[in-house]
Amino acid sequence: MRRFFVPLLTSRVVSESYTELRFPWPGDLRRPLPGQFLSLGVNSSPPVFLRRPFSLSGFDGSRNEAAVMVLPRGPASEALCRLRPGEMLDIIGPRGFPFPYHHNTHDPRPIVLVGGGIGVGPLQFAAQYLLERHEPVVLLLGFREPAMIPALEFPQGARVRLACEKAPLPEGVHLGKVLDLAEDFFDREEPREVWTCGPPGMLHRLASLCLARGIACSVLMEEMMGCAVGACMGCAVPVNDGRGYLRACTEGPVFDAAIVDWEGLWT
Ligand SMILES: Cc1cc2nc3c(=O)[nH]c(=O)nc-3n(C[C@H](O)[C@H](O)[C@H](O)COP(=O)(O)OP(=O)(O)OC[C@H]3O[C@@H](n4cnc5c(N)ncnc54)[C@H](O)[C@@H]3O)c2cc1C
Ligand code: FES
Repeated sequence: MRRFFVPLLTSRVVSESYTELRFPWPGDLRRPLPGQFLSLGVNSSPPVFLRRPFSLSGFDGSRNEAAVMVLPRGPASEALCRLRPGEMLDIIGPRGFPFPYHHNTHDPRPIVLVGGGIGVGPLQFAAQYLLERHEPVVLLLGFREPAMIPALEFPQGARVRLACEKAPLPEGVHLGKVLDLAEDFFDREEPREVWTCGPPGMLHRLASLCLARGIACSVLMEEMMGCAVGACMGCAVPVNDGRGYLRACTEGPVFDAAIVDWEGLWT
C-alpha cells in the first residue's frame, strides 16, 4: 500500500447510478485483489476533509489499469463523477483484506456473488478475477430502478442474473429482489461459497439464509469510515467471537458473515 497520483484515463457513465473511472496502476505496486479498496482524496465543493473509500471494480494486468465504480451520493463521489480524463487522482491503496479465495478448480460447485448498490463494482472485479482462474462463477445483482441497471460487459463465462424491484424491465430481468434469485439458486444448486456486498439489510438477510443452509458466506461491509487507519473506531463492526468489535478499515472490509453480530449492527 502507498500513496500515488495518476491521471484519470476514462470516465464512463454506465447507468443513471454508476460511473466507472479507469486509471493507470503503478507498475511497481502490488496488484489489487477483489474486496480491497482505495482511499481517495477528493477536491470537492463543499470541501471534504476525510479521504473516502472506494472498492476496486476491475484490474487489467495486461495494461496495468484499474477501475472503481462510483455511486454519486455526496460531495466526494459527485466530484469524482465530474472528473474528466487527464485530471489527477490522489490514491492510497490497495487497502484491506480481500475476499478469501482458495484456488480449487477441482470443485465444480460455483462461487456465488450476490450484491447491489456499491456492491456491483467489487463483485464485477471478483467475477473477473475468479474466471481468470477458471473457477465457476454465478453473479446475482439487484437494483431498485430499471434506470440503475448498468450497461456493463459482464465477464464472459459467468452465469449472470439480474433483479429489479420496479417494472418495466429489460427481457430476462427478474421483477423482485436479488435475494429471491439467491434463494431460488440455493434451492436448485449447492454453491461452494457466497461472496456479497450491498446494502446492510440485504447483507443481513443473505447471511441468515446462508447460515441456515450451512453455506460459507463472506461479506464486504460498506461501513462509514473516518480515519481509515484504525484510530477512530468509526468503522467498527460488532462481532460475536469474543473480540467485541473489528475495524472495517484495518481488519476488514471483508468478514466471515458467521462472526458478524447482525443484531448489534443495528443498535
Ligand atoms: C470498504 C468500502 C468500499 C466502498 N466502495 C464504494 C464503491 O465502490 N463505490 C461507491 O460509490 N461507494 C463506495 N463506498 C461508499 C463511499 O465511500 C461513501 O459513499 C462515501 O461517503 C462517499 O462520499 P461523499 O462525500 O460522496 O458522500 P458523504 O457526504 O460521505 O455521504 C453522503 C450520504 O451517504 C451516506 N453514506 C455515506 N457512506 C455510507 C456508507 N458507507 N453506508 C451507508 N451510508 C453512507 C451518508 O450518511 C450521507 O447521508 C465504499 C465504502 C466502504 C467503507
Ligand atoms: S475508519 Fe477510523 S478506525 Fe476505521
